[in-house]
Amino acid sequence: MSERYDSIRKQLKQNPQTWLITGVAGFIGSNLLEALLALGHRVVGLDDFSTGYRRNLDEVRAIVTPEQWKRFTFIEGDIRNSADCARAVAGVDHVLHEAALGSVPRSVHDPIATHEVNLSGFLNMLVAAHDANVLSFTYAASSSTYGDHPGLPKVEDTIGQPLSPYAVTKYANELYASVFARTYGFNTIGLRYFNVFGKRQDPNGAYAAVIPKWTAALIDGTEVVINGDGETSRDFCFIDNVVQANLLAATSEPSSRNEVYNVAVGGRTTLNQLYEELKAALAQNGVHCDRPPVYAPFRAGDIRHSQANVEKARRLLGYGYAIPLAQGLAEAMPWYIQFISTTGAESIENHLFRPV
Ligand SMILES: NC(=O)c1ccc[n+]([C@@H]2O[C@H](COP(=O)([O-])OP(=O)(O)OC[C@H]3O[C@@H](n4cnc5c(N)ncnc54)[C@H](O)[C@@H]3O)[C@@H](O)[C@H]2O)c1
Repeated sequence: MSERYDSIRKQLKQNPQTWLITGVAGFIGSNLLEALLALGHRVVGLDDFSTGYRRNLDEVRAIVTPEQWKRFTFIEGDIRNSADCARAVAGVDHVLHEAALGSVPRSVHDPIATHEVNLSGFLNMLVAAHDANVLSFTYAASSSTYGDHPGLPKVEDTIGQPLSPYAVTKYANELYASVFARTYGFNTIGLRYFNVFGKRQDPNGAYAAVIPKWTAALIDGTEVVINGDGETSRDFCFIDNVVQANLLAATSEPSSRNEVYNVAVGGRTTLNQLYEELKAALAQNGVHCDRPPVYAPFRAGDIRHSQANVEKARRLLGYGYAIPLAQGLAEAMPWYIQFISTTGAESIENHLFRPV
């Protein structure tokens, strides 16, 4: 933990405020909810359950105290609807905007849906938050913005051409954010998350992220499919690092606003290495898998290599110790084992074959 994060958490505990988390029923949103309620804050959550789940909210409810849970207000609504955004942001101090349609392949299959939620929805939230005079607005940007730029590690001001409709929407979010700073003096912070993982990340569906998808397959003894030769690499980022970055961003100095920051570890792991790491983490929990992975063609729109330089976040936000992959997997595995053992392979299969 960084010195600043330590002191910010102490300050937050003493000074409860009101936060809006959009996408609160999703993976990252529900983890932010858990962290803020545990600090004694009031949270308004907005979600339309398009890719999030009531079960994520139920799980947070079971973790926090009844007193803390009473400070949560849920609004079922859609960020494509400006009235829903205005209603959600009324009386709020800080906005953490997480709602979006994630997944590069989803955006390749349905670019219009991705555009409407990720770009029009984002603009609705920016307007609503500016109109409501919030103290801070932090949004989920993405490492996909680096596009085809080959340089490693990725530094914030050097990007390439986007490789997918999803990447276009996330980059356009940054452009809108900077225009809002210039035009209206509304200074926001974009956090470019690199492949985040942890509890409550959905293992189901055609658009599941690699870590939950492979973990579920390994636990169930079904096939793990590696797209490409397995030498594609990523900077896998444990969810606690993302929670840290959000709290630091929302409480940052004015001089650190109107900026985007990489949020990751600064490491690089190939898919072949990840497969071995997952097997090892499961073995530590008594789950042994011997089935070799199957190799399939590369996926359209995927970046070949990704690794963050996190110096800017360290320097301007006080981003401190970032939990590395192996430690994050060790923390996340018991949740996945429990989740898969209660939901089972059947629900995964059902989701895999739902129409897209
Ligand atoms: N998970 C990652 O590795 C990663 C990496 C980079 C960026 N991001 C970004 O982080 C954010 C959160 O991602 P996540 O992994 O938690 O995904 P998620 O799918 O688990 O959560 C997104 C949430 O947004 C909600 N949502 C979607 N459309 C909505 C709409 N129109 N109105 C209201 N709510 C809506 C969904 O129901 C869901 O609960 C997204 O903006 C995503 O693009 C995630």
